[in-house]
Amino acid sequence: MKVLLLGSGGRENAIAWKLAQSPLLSELFIAPGNAGTAEYGTNISIPATHFQEIADFVIEYSIEMIIVGPEAPLVKGIYDFFAENDTLAHIPVIGPSKLGAQLEGSKAFAKDFMTRHQIPTAAYLEVSMDNLPDGMEFLENLKPPFVLKADGLAAGKGVLILNDLEEARKELMAMLDGKFGDASETVVIEEFMSGIEFSVFVLSDGINYTILPLAKDYKRIGDNDTGLNTGGMGAVANPPFVSKEIMAAIEKSVIQPTIEGLLKDGIVYKGFIYIGFMLEGSNARVVEYNCRMGDPETEVVFPLIKNDLLSLFLATAKGKLNEVKIETGNETAVTVILSSGGYPNDYKTGFPISGLENITESLVFHCGTTQNENKQIVTNGGRVLAITSTGNTWQEAAKKCYASIRLIDFEGKYFRTDIGQDLG
Ligand code: AMP
Ligand code: GLY
Repeated sequence: MKVLLLGSGGRENAIAWKLAQSPLLSELFIAPGNAGTAEYGTNISIPATHFQEIADFVIEYSIEMIIVGPEAPLVKGIYDFFAENDTLAHIPVIGPSKLGAQLEGSKAFAKDFMTRHQIPTAAYLEVSMDNLPDGMEFLENLKPPFVLKADGLAAGKGVLILNDLEEARKELMAMLDGKFGDASETVVIEEFMSGIEFSVFVLSDGINYTILPLAKDYKRIGDNDTGLNTGGMGAVANPPFVSKEIMAAIEKSVIQPTIEGLLKDGIVYKGFIYIGFMLEGSNARVVEYNCRMGDPETEVVFPLIKNDLLSLFLATAKGKLNEVKIETGNETAVTVILSSGGYPNDYKTGFPISGLENITESLVFHCGTTQNENKQIVTNGGRVLAITSTGNTWQEAAKKCYASIRLIDFEGKYFRTDIGQDLG
């Protein structure tokens, strides 16, 4: 099969790596890709949100499947763009419809969906300039901290958690006034949930679903969860604090109602659903939905999956995920991100990366890299590389990651030194 993968991060490098192992794959293209995806296919310089250019390429190269990595093309409606075009409709797009992608694209849509289908989540109120007094009253009746969320996509920055009521009032006004542009014309005010976070990844064919290994992401830039939020500085697979009993409870209270809810609402969804949870004791509630896999979670989860990825996607396209069982061994995995000094604030790029050829005990997925004019691999983003190792324990996997990290270098190399340490 000829496959086109959209995206350019570590997630897409991990997807490309896994697809390349499939006997069903004849040719892989990645738009736009990075220096890592180029090892497994041909990068083409089309942005993932330029649908007409993508469609022209798909026809010219007889592409037989499109796999969408990031949220932006999904929220913009790439699934519908193909499904509604007579010459393109037969080509499966792995990813939800535009309406399905609203689970990530609009926090208010996601909260309405959860309320409608009785899926456990924090209490909330959707606020715009039209019901501002209700918003202020809702805030006053909450206990601190106060959670304010821009409704739309805001590059991961649209959630504010504030301790002071006066500040929360001011920020609510600022958000409605355009602090995050159109994304915060509507704001969701939420009850604060305390506990520990983890993420569950589900692949849905619209009727059936299959659950992938779960993961815990380390979002803060600094060790011991200090400093600014990032896209994710590392991850561990199958964190031990999520017991089999908790997973069974979640499947019943969240996963099944989500899939059934999509079906009831007539929302076409053939792709990944990433469900972020907050666990307090044995009670897990949904923090958010994303309409895609996570990054760096893909890099920690996919190496544990033994199934052929392209077969999984074919089953997704054909509505046959009921015939699939996800196979994983007994190992676990850890991913540590190497980032550019300064990230998540300003950072420089273009620094040569050395030592990649010496890595034998880990997988190296490229997040933000490119090849310069001398064909050298250089840094090209905030998050640069994802180093993944598997092992019988988190400690063993993390040890391998950190040994590999010592062999890789670039100017400004930064990483968290504590990924997996909190797991005991
Ligand atoms: P979201 O974009 O909705 O996932 O929010 C980003 C991050 O903010 C989450 O990963 C949580 O760490 C935190 N967060 C969001 N909503 C809540 C909440 N209701 N209570 C506590 N923390 C939250
Ligand atoms: N690592 C968080 C995300 O992919 O959204």
